[in-house]
Amino acid sequence: MVDLSLQVFGATFQNPILLASGTCGYGQEYSGVIDVDALGGIVTKAVTPKRRRGNLPTRITETPAGMINSIGLANVGLEGFKREKLPWIQENLRSAQVLVNVAGWTVEDFVGVVEGLNEEVGFLGYEINVSCPNVKGGTLFGTDEKALAVLVKALRESTSRPLIIKLTPNVPDIGVFAEICEANGADGLSTINTFPGMVIDVDTRRAVIGNETGGVSGPAILPMGVYATRVAATRVDLPVIGIGGVRNAKDALQYLLAGASLIQIGTAMFVDPFTAPEVVAGISEFCEKHGVGEISELIGALEA
Ligand code: FUM
Repeated sequence: MVDLSLQVFGATFQNPILLASGTCGYGQEYSGVIDVDALGGIVTKAVTPKRRRGNLPTRITETPAGMINSIGLANVGLEGFKREKLPWIQENLRSAQVLVNVAGWTVEDFVGVVEGLNEEVGFLGYEINVSCPNVKGGTLFGTDEKALAVLVKALRESTSRPLIIKLTPNVPDIGVFAEICEANGADGLSTINTFPGMVIDVDTRRAVIGNETGGVSGPAILPMGVYATRVAATRVDLPVIGIGGVRNAKDALQYLLAGASLIQIGTAMFVDPFTAPEVVAGISEFCEKHGVGEISELIGALEA
């Protein structure tokens, strides 16, 4: 295997492949299936100030070339995360990097979770979720330029750990939001969260998803994710984590060439939980075949 390690956010990632928030629980859910600690890292399910039951079922259904979800940020909450989830992470994820996805509805919600975790060990930084399409106000900060600036600035003042802002594609120009994050002290960006969508059962004439709408992910959104990553990476000088529709090494390589430093895999893991380690191996094979000595040679190496 070619050495795929790289330095991002002041830390070593042993390879560029991470499991995406909401698709891997808190890492433990995949233990015994794959070696989670051999991946570049994981991003936890969102942590909100209080425990949340989430949206009514049905919460997930398949779509052409993907799936739609409306989980509603169900999670164990800040104290539950510290008590029930973080100990396993601290004990078992020694080589993989961990980002804690943080969600909320007010600046105080986000800052409260971050400050509540700052003193804990076992994770690298935060992925700030301003882009959940499945709860009222879930995309408020991700679609309002002024609100985003206020939030990122407040978060910057609340932690010295890496702050990565997970952006929504549901804006006219994602580059503007990337620039706001950079100007207010973010360390990186995750592009992109899901696209709002809907599936209707024509026999019952009802929406399949209990919450009526949800977020669309999977191979259907691969070109949009690559595009958003390209736009963000060319507009700011921050590391970008590419997300959306990755099923194999070639998909992941598209993100690297577009400018992503790291890549998250989500939906594909529901189809085949060995996807992530196979993508790592596939990138290594590609590097060997094409004489790529270091993964960083590929980042943003798109030929114009
Ligand atoms: O419904 C959900 O919990 C999804 C969250 C997200 O897309 O960030």
